[in-house]
Amino acid sequence: QNARESLYIVSQYAAAFFAEQMWTNSEGRAIGLGYFKERGFREDIIKKFELGYSPDSWDALIVSAGAAGHREEYLEQTGLAIKNDKGKLYDRFRGRVMFPIHNFTGRVIGFGGRTLKTDKNVPKYVNSPESEIYHKSNVLYGLFHAKKAIRDTDNCYLVEGYADVLSMHQASVENVVASSGTSLTTEQIRLIGRFTQNVTILYDGDAAGIKASLRGLDMILEEGLNVKVVNFPDGHDPDSYMHLVGAGAFKAYIENNRKDFILYKATTLLKDAGNDPIKRAGIIRDIVESIAKIPDDIKASVFIRECSRLLEVEERILLSELNKIKDAKI
Ligand code: UTP
Ligand code: MN
Ligand code: MN
Ligand code: MN
Ligand code: MN
Repeated sequence: QNARESLYIVSQYAAAFFAEQMWTNSEGRAIGLGYFKERGFREDIIKKFELGYSPDSWDALIVSAGAAGHREEYLEQTGLAIKNDKGKLYDRFRGRVMFPIHNFTGRVIGFGGRTLKTDKNVPKYVNSPESEIYHKSNVLYGLFHAKKAIRDTDNCYLVEGYADVLSMHQASVENVVASSGTSLTTEQIRLIGRFTQNVTILYDGDAAGIKASLRGLDMILEEGLNVKVVNFPDGHDPDSYMHLVGAGAFKAYIENNRKDFILYKATTLLKDAGNDPIKRAGIIRDIVESIAKIPDDIKASVFIRECSRLLEVEERILLSELNKIKDAKI
């Protein structure tokens, strides 16, 4: 048995330990399971994603794993345990609800742990560090549970967080992944591209979410995939919005409010521009810059036409701008 395999095994052990703590331990049931129930998550969803609870202790996992015969070096190499200055190991995850992260073949490779405290000084999520088995830039949270639905629907919803993935499954929308714990990477987009060419971004409806969707859509276009965006009202994310309006209305909302990237950029950016012609020109150029990222020239020309219609700018002007941008890139 090689070292990598040992890291998978200890990670799976930890996931089972955290789940057992949540379902069978009275502290875990009250605090961990209570938390998920309070947020409106159903038991079948909690079980499907193997959610759990890490006891509020410095060594609960270390002691349990040790008794089960797992070597401490593997706990340390997965980041489940950390060595302090004095060489003593302690548990990374303490008193948090736990989201195991699976690779796309379904093996546990890391964790996200959410605090139950509302204290702003405590980080909301603590995540496993990079390890021999967990390379954040090429992992998508939820992909293992989504890949069949992504193929069947020929679309992948991309969300920000763990809770968003869970809530969408609860609403029976299973073609969803999150780039949790990192901002979207090219490797993650290529991973999606193995299952579908169509991505729909559902990021949080706050300033950070809008900024991230503008960045994400350019990266997705650059990889040659098609991208649409749905935005959520006043600070909602897919999780909060699903619980606010219910599964049926949520599904209708994401189906009826998807905008292609031109319309999304136009509506998002023009909101602040008003009638200022200089600002409008800047926005039009910004949209053409996104179109210039599309590798397929025929697709690009279709979007140029749409942009021309939508923003009432002559197509030949947009085309010459597009060519200028493309020439500058070579
Ligand atoms: P959000 O702040 O939007 O959290 O971060 P959330 O997913 O809506 O969390 P809830 O609903 O309050 O539980 C989005 C994602 O960014 C990562 C997590 O993956 C989170 O799901 N994140 C956020 C971190 O890794 N660390 C943090 O401290 C915060
Ligand atoms: Mn490796
Ligand atoms: Mn956010
Ligand atoms: Mn969020
Ligand atoms: Mn949220």
